[in-house]
Amino acid sequence: MSTSPITQVTIRRMQVNDLEQVRAIDRLSFSLPWPEKAYEIELRENQNSIPLVAEKAAPGSEPLVVGVVVAWMVLDEVHIATLSVHPEHRGQGISRALLAHAIEEGLQRGAVLATLEVRAGNLTAQALYQRFGFKVVGDRPRYYQDNQEDALIMTVNLMEERLPGVSYLEWLRQRGYEQEAGASPADSSPRS
Ligand SMILES: CC(C)(COP(=O)(O)OP(=O)(O)OC[C@H]1O[C@@H](n2cnc3c(N)ncnc32)[C@H](O)[C@@H]1OP(=O)(O)O)[C@@H](O)C(=O)NCCC(=O)NCCS
Repeated sequence: MSTSPITQVTIRRMQVNDLEQVRAIDRLSFSLPWPEKAYEIELRENQNSIPLVAEKAAPGSEPLVVGVVVAWMVLDEVHIATLSVHPEHRGQGISRALLAHAIEEGLQRGAVLATLEVRAGNLTAQALYQRFGFKVVGDRPRYYQDNQEDALIMTVNLMEERLPGVSYLEWLRQRGYEQEAGASPADSSPRS
C-alpha cells in the first residue's frame, strides 16, 4: 500500500505467509488470543474482512511483520476486531498507521461509523482511539472471560465534519495520522 522512506514500515494486506508472525504477535499482545485458525479464516473466507499488517524492513534482514489489524465491514460500519503491535516495536506510530489504513478502507467500502470494544483497563488503547475521535458510547459488563473485565464500546462518526468543511479523513491527514509509522503526528504532545 504505502511505504515510509525513513522507517521502512509498510502497511499492506495480510497474506497466508504472514500467519505465523501474526499469531505470534496476537499471543504476545492478548491474554485471550484468537483461536489458531481465526486469522486464516479472515483471509480465506471472510469477504467483509479488512486484514492488514505492518511490515518493517531493516537493511540486510528479512522484512518483519510487526503489527496487525483486522476490521470487519458490518453493513455501514467498520468494526475494529483486533489491533496489536509486537511489544518490541510499540511507541513508533505503528498502530496509528494500521488504524488509519483500516478506517480509510472502511470509508472506501461505505462505512459511516467506526466501532470497537476495548477493555475498561486498557488505557493505552483507549488513548489511541481517543486520538482518532472515538468516544465511549456504552459498555458490556464482564465481557472478557479471563478476568470478567468490562468492555467499553467506542465509536466515531466518519461522516461528521471534524471542523467546518473538514472530512474525517482530511482531519486525520491534517493531524499527521495518515503518515506512516515513525512520523510524529502534527499535534503530538509528550507522554508523562
Ligand atoms: C495499543 C497498541 C496497539 C498501541 O500500539 P503502538 O504502535 O505502540 O501505538 P502508537 O505508537 O501508534 O501510538 C498511538 C497512540 O497510542 C497511545 N499510546 C501508545 N503508547 C502509549 C503509552 N505507552 N501510554 C499512553 N498512550 C500510548 C497514544 O495515544 C498514541 O498516540 P500519540 O503518539 O499521538 O500520542 C499496543 O500497545 C498493543 O499492541 N497493545 C496490546 C494489544 C492491545 O491492547 N490492542 C488494542 C485492543 S482494543
